[in-house]
Amino acid sequence: MPVRVRVLVDNSAPLPTRLLPEYGFSALVEDVGAGVRILFDTGSSGLPLEHNLKLLGVDTASIDYVVLSHRHYDHTGGLRRFLELRGGKPVTVIAHEDLFTPSYARLKALGGSLADIGIPYTRAELESLGARFLLVRKPVRVTDSIVVSGEIPREWGPSHAWGMLRLSEGGLVEDNMRDDMALYIHTSGGLLAITGCGHAGVENIVENGLAQLGEERLYGVIGGLHLLGAPADRPPAVVKYLESKKPKVLAAMHCTGPLVQGVLAERLPNAYRLAGVGLEVEVE
Ligand SMILES: [Fe+2]
Ligand SMILES: [Fe+2]
Repeated sequence: MPVRVRVLVDNSAPLPTRLLPEYGFSALVEDVGAGVRILFDTGSSGLPLEHNLKLLGVDTASIDYVVLSHRHYDHTGGLRRFLELRGGKPVTVIAHEDLFTPSYARLKALGGSLADIGIPYTRAELESLGARFLLVRKPVRVTDSIVVSGEIPREWGPSHAWGMLRLSEGGLVEDNMRDDMALYIHTSGGLLAITGCGHAGVENIVENGLAQLGEERLYGVIGGLHLLGAPADRPPAVVKYLESKKPKVLAAMHCTGPLVQGVLAERLPNAYRLAGVGLEVEVE
């Protein structure tokens, strides 16, 4: 039975659609056979999420699980509105143990000033609206074919977390975003990985997923690869790696960056999908 992935929130709306974009990411992942709906990330504000779910005719109360890829506001900021729309109906929210750890960034694109980019709500606030947190480090199997990755080891490549900071006793230190998780879908064609920002690094996300599923074939990657602001040698290395894995579907969006998206489109023309809100991929 198929698994259907629909992109609900992304930075761009490149397809003819009435769906609204915003900076951030969210996807609806449905295991049609199991009758399970997963909201993977929630975008920044909840406004496009609300609008787009309504336009697609998806009742928020019909969603069985929320999975948060990591703690950045552009993936967690829509959670409050989502919970409000459910009218207090409880929902399991699967995320990493570090979900409520403060998160900062100092980015050139933000004028070099320090920005608070963590989850903009307290745990108590979200629980009072119906969130039931399952905070993990280990993988979580949601259905026969869908697994939340758990913490992703950085064994195969670097983290993609340039400019990310966290507080430690000595002040602000570099943060490799160990809370960054992916959703692994086991399709008949191999692994389909859904990423949020991809801070764990695409090689780590894919190789860890293949190992977890006992697979050799990469079917595809949908989501952010966080190459905005990357050192100059990283985008070509990522392109080369993805070419070597011969995916059937590649929809790199959100924080991948438009320049890298263009290169991926040129180098993997058969796999590349014009990515943004409204993108729909169905796999068996
Ligand atoms: Fe992001
Ligand atoms: Fe992020």
